[in-house]
Amino acid sequence: MNKEKNILLIEGDGIGPEVVAQAKKIIDFFSENSEYKFITDKALLGGIAYDKTGTPFPQETIDKAKNSDAILLGAVGGPKWESLDYSVRPERGLLGIRKELGLFANLRPAIVFDALIDSSTLKPEIVSGLDIMIVRELTGGIYFGQPRGVEELSDGQKRGYNTLTYTSSEIQRIAKVAFELAQKRNGRLCSVDKANVLESTELWRQEVEKIGENYKDVELSNMYVDNASMQLVRNPKQFDVMVTTNMFGDILSDTASMLTGSLGMLPSASLGEKRSGGKQYALYEPVHGSAPDIAGKNIANPIATISSLSMMFRYSFNLQKEADIIDISIKNILARGVKSADIATENEKTYSTSEIGDELIKEIAKNL
Ligand code: IPM
Ligand code: MG
Repeated sequence: MNKEKNILLIEGDGIGPEVVAQAKKIIDFFSENSEYKFITDKALLGGIAYDKTGTPFPQETIDKAKNSDAILLGAVGGPKWESLDYSVRPERGLLGIRKELGLFANLRPAIVFDALIDSSTLKPEIVSGLDIMIVRELTGGIYFGQPRGVEELSDGQKRGYNTLTYTSSEIQRIAKVAFELAQKRNGRLCSVDKANVLESTELWRQEVEKIGENYKDVELSNMYVDNASMQLVRNPKQFDVMVTTNMFGDILSDTASMLTGSLGMLPSASLGEKRSGGKQYALYEPVHGSAPDIAGKNIANPIATISSLSMMFRYSFNLQKEADIIDISIKNILARGVKSADIATENEKTYSTSEIGDELIKEIAKNL
């Protein structure tokens, strides 16, 4: 591999800058202590971009994103911008970058660390050893379908509408990603839809089954989303890989995150299509939001963002050893009780955001 990589850091809003700063420490550490050189740059997105430039998704950010080898994003949004028109809300920036870069495949793993079993609201035997991967379609479905909007009716009422659309090719490409992941894992794939009510997801089911013909080694099952949400809390270990639409994946991944004890633990990768020359746009971000209530207090959990960096090393740079070192180091510091407030149990000491970053650097140095 080319030993020099450009990483674009998009801190965003709320706790974004604090958690990205911890990941940056680790990026710099690997730059200084390995044969690889990671060059970082920053760009604006979300509320902060709106405040500084008048748009949540500046052209400069698009350009920088397209020129980078991978993007690490903190979080966007906050109450400050909630009254703005939809078109300039921070969330539009996030949806815009996903769409502009064609990041259709969103990988959201949920893993339960032994040290965190007591942080989950579920019984230990339900969650211990849990390791599932939710594959969420990210650039289609009701998030982007046309027509959409709110219109005035002649009787003085308003009518709001969004459209859930999927084409066969959109379904097929995400299904392939999911089947391939299932092949590398435990060979089980559950596709989640609402085929009993929504035609577009009936098509989803048919297309996923068609793709399944080429992956006979993967055991495919289909589940309605209401049942899937129930099964995720009843018996989550029945799942290996789940594949679903943009909206269902948004909801189910939040549920899955709580199985692990905290939303502060879940990383994600959003990948585009492989383009000529092997280049693939990729954005890595924690599943959690900007948590404005705890922003600026140095108490946020940076682990989801640091795990997202590990996913970047793995998926974008094929640096398996370095990614393993990050993952093992996270496990090790948790095992010796280095925990932020969201995951510490009652009598445990809590560590600040920056202390967790520093503890991780020490641990990574030991394992390198
Ligand atoms: C997520 C978030 C976003 C989404 C919001 C912030 C637009 O909830 O990444 O899960 O709905 O996709
Ligand atoms: Mg969400």
